[in-house]
Amino acid sequence: MWSFFVKLCRTAVTMLGSAILFWISFILLFLLFRTKRPKNFPPGPRPIPIFGNLLQLDLVDLLNDLRKLSERYGKVYSIYLGRKPAVVLNGLQAMREALVTQSVEFAGRPKGLMINHLSEGKGVGMTDGPMWKEHRRFALTTLRNFRMGKPSMEERILGEIFHIVKHLEKNAGKSTDPQTLFHKAGFNIICTVLFGTRFKHEDEFLQLNIRHITENSKIINGLWGMIYDTLPLLRTLPLPFQKAFQNMRMIRKSLADQVSQHKESRVPGEPRDLIDCYLDEMEKRGDDGSSFSENQLVFYLLDLFFAGTDTTSNTLLTAFLYLMTHPDVQERCQKEINEVLGEKEQVSFQDRHRMPYTQAMIHEIQRVADTVPLAPFHATTKDTRLMGYNIPKGTIIIPNLSSGLSEESQWKFPHEFNPSNFLNDEGEFVKPEAFMPFSAGFRVCLGEGLARMELFLILVTLLRRFKFIWPEEAGVPDYTPVFGLIHSPKPYKLGVRLRGSGDLGA
Ligand code: HEM
Ligand SMILES: *[C@@H]1O[C@H](CO)[C@@H](O)[C@H](O)[C@H]1NC(C)=O
Repeated sequence: MWSFFVKLCRTAVTMLGSAILFWISFILLFLLFRTKRPKNFPPGPRPIPIFGNLLQLDLVDLLNDLRKLSERYGKVYSIYLGRKPAVVLNGLQAMREALVTQSVEFAGRPKGLMINHLSEGKGVGMTDGPMWKEHRRFALTTLRNFRMGKPSMEERILGEIFHIVKHLEKNAGKSTDPQTLFHKAGFNIICTVLFGTRFKHEDEFLQLNIRHITENSKIINGLWGMIYDTLPLLRTLPLPFQKAFQNMRMIRKSLADQVSQHKESRVPGEPRDLIDCYLDEMEKRGDDGSSFSENQLVFYLLDLFFAGTDTTSNTLLTAFLYLMTHPDVQERCQKEINEVLGEKEQVSFQDRHRMPYTQAMIHEIQRVADTVPLAPFHATTKDTRLMGYNIPKGTIIIPNLSSGLSEESQWKFPHEFNPSNFLNDEGEFVKPEAFMPFSAGFRVCLGEGLARMELFLILVTLLRRFKFIWPEEAGVPDYTPVFGLIHSPKPYKLGVRLRGSGDLGA
């Protein structure tokens, strides 16, 4: 009896002790991690210690559904990713003031997020300073030289289009899976630029890499990506975000293999592709202390590869979803294409100037596709001001590119698919300032020229040859995209018919 009483007391004391200990540590942690907005910082919801605003967000659609916050706090508001404050920019005015007017101040990248760890601080897209500047300039120059080079950029793209056409011809009269088709096309076009080769659609290299890329563009900015960014203590645990790192290692290995093969087969001074150009440049620079190195090359390729594949292919997927379900728009483009190209064998990028309606259609597709909804996050490079608020150096900046693309004050038809958004009363092509799917300022997409060429050549060639029909059995089309670093349309089937010579007076 007595001993039972002692035991009970002991247990009670231990329990009480643990409870007190728990509360003390909680309060200590609270004080330690208490998050306080800097002075005159954009307003936002009160963060919870450690978690920031993570728990207040819709866990399925983490970053996507913050409209209520912006209604409550205005165009510029802040949220906490764990202990780190982030400022969200909504609408053209705020984005222009940051990205364009203060391009230098807002062109940094955050540190310590998943997206940085994936690229280990190397490459071009997630780096700052001289490494970023030198590699960005090198990519822009090399891509520009390729436009004129042998084979020219246009020839490289048309070469890949040939294979898309062949695939669609085989499937004429039926419906086919456009997801794999356009991912492979986007992937191969980047490959011809980076490695000078394309891969057969059955190739394992191609299939594996595409899978790794598409998976990662959903993990980043998805639930597990946000948990990684918010709760550093969990980062080493075997949670689903480890998949992203595993994928990255696999892609990196493929790229390192490509580099080794190039080192064996190259002729210095006669570059076939971007890898050769880079190796030439490395030799030219020698040990001048520049940021060019073979290890850096692999991460550099990784960035171009990653940034150039899923973006273009998802834009194309959006294009065919809308073209199939808006046959009037499709037919008007086909009519214009027929008139302008006549008997000409192949379209060239120059022809766009004589195709205002088709141009308007492509831009409208990019507007509704909203391919990179929040851009990769930026960071401020020094203390600065924005729309009357103080923004300290190193603050995470989230440019909400979606918000400008559907801003009611900026568009004639903000919430519907309508190429007239890009046409004036005379039917000429015009580009409103709020059109920023490639972002703006010093960080603007460096593949914009290539991407625009791809979209134009692919869409025009395919519309000229085929008619695309929404398969009857497919039900009502669902336009809501799947959120991630990169938006993708929900999977659908592409109905393909050959266009006869009688179609639309061809
Ligand atoms: C429709 C296709 C594309 C879209 C919508 C797109 C969009 C974007 C956006 C929004 C950014 C972020 C800019 C920022 O941080 O503010 C970006 C960056 C970038 N894009 Fe693209 N992109 C496309 C195609 C490409 C292609 C084909 C390439 C390959 C050459 C490419 C390479 C890059 C690179 C390397 C960056 C990082 C630039 C930097 O941080 O300095 N993109 N892109
Ligand atoms: C970005 O803008 C869109 C459209 O205005 C909105 O629905 C979304 O919630 C915004 N996202 C953020 C992070 O503010």
